[in-house]
Amino acid sequence: HSHMDKSNIVTCTAPVNIAVIKYWGKRNEELILPINSSLSVTLHQDQLKTTTTVATSRSFQEDRIWLNGKEEDINHPRIQSCLREIRRLARKRRSDGDPGFDLTSLSHKVHICSVNNFPTAAGLASSAAGFACLVYTLAQVFGIEGELSGIARQGSGSACRSMYGGFVQWIMGQKDDGKDSLAQQVEPETHWPELRILVLVASAERKPIGSTSGMQTSVQTSCLLKHRAESVVPGRMVEMTEAVQRKDFAAFAELTMKDSNQFHATCLDTYPPIFYLNNVSQQVISLVHRYNRHHGETRAAYTFDAGPNAVIFILQQHVPEFVQAVQHFFPPESNGGQFIKGLPVNHAALSEELKRAIGLEPMPKGISYIISTKAGPGPCVVEDPAQHLLGSDGLPK
Ligand code: DP6
Repeated sequence: HSHMDKSNIVTCTAPVNIAVIKYWGKRNEELILPINSSLSVTLHQDQLKTTTTVATSRSFQEDRIWLNGKEEDINHPRIQSCLREIRRLARKRRSDGDPGFDLTSLSHKVHICSVNNFPTAAGLASSAAGFACLVYTLAQVFGIEGELSGIARQGSGSACRSMYGGFVQWIMGQKDDGKDSLAQQVEPETHWPELRILVLVASAERKPIGSTSGMQTSVQTSCLLKHRAESVVPGRMVEMTEAVQRKDFAAFAELTMKDSNQFHATCLDTYPPIFYLNNVSQQVISLVHRYNRHHGETRAAYTFDAGPNAVIFILQQHVPEFVQAVQHFFPPESNGGQFIKGLPVNHAALSEELKRAIGLEPMPKGISYIISTKAGPGPCVVEDPAQHLLGSDGLPK
């Protein structure tokens, strides 16, 4: 019958990450091997996370997957890579005689159901959290422990960094088989508690070109990207790791902005060029630099991925004033919902001096809302069975 054994259903959550040294470009498309190492901060799952339930049952006819309420094609090559690699590892553990391994489930089909706690429309890269959660949950179902970032990487490059909390590096590796292209925690999420992260959700008018095809064109056409990967990133990885370890905000912030700018420069150097930053993004960049100049120190940093949303790094004590400045120069829709979501932000006064120092023309509704968050932990198992996304019939609840 369709009734499932309780032990064959697991629900997990996984985080989004934001790179401060960017990954852009592959040396191997199938294995997803990058042309440079990268470093990211894992965002807290209270604000941004993917939840995935995986069930196995002898009654299931086929592997199936539902993403954000809609059934998707399980034959997607990257989903197949993750399933294949997890099953391969499970079989290996069995032949190695791991007693913790559940024999029966390996021959069964899987049902996968996954949801995000943030709107996909917000344009936040959800493939990293999605593939990290898929791989982590599958591993739990099949009783596999240990290194999993090499499998998550084969779902989406940036997903390997979402397998750990805090500050994470993806070491590019040298081998052709990719066995040494793995993520590693640099510092845990507790390392720098004063660090805050603000996601400025820009009201995007159209969907930009995806990272996978964008970086392909960049590798083929941009000699700036080649120079960056070979001669710039190696030094920056060392500097960034040290800045994080020392909790040196000014050094961390400056490198973050320079690396984001260089990534977008490689996009402009791509032929035909790729534009991810729009006029709202450019206004945010100006605002941050004028804010920093006014205070005579680097208090805020921006970074942008393959879309117009800005992610801001700032120390807790400066958040209220900075948010006031953003709200002043991007006046939100007055009838709309909350402008600031996530971690609460105290109210602050905005001085006339600071307004004058920034001196930009306000852009009404340029930013829809801000998500206020911090660094957070890696993937977690959800113990409460009420949270399973699949019912006892193996279908989405
Ligand atoms: C700009 O990981 O989405 O966000 O490996 O093709 O799935 P694929 O690409 P993806 O690229 C992320 C690019 C980036 C920078 C970064 O996260 O490092």
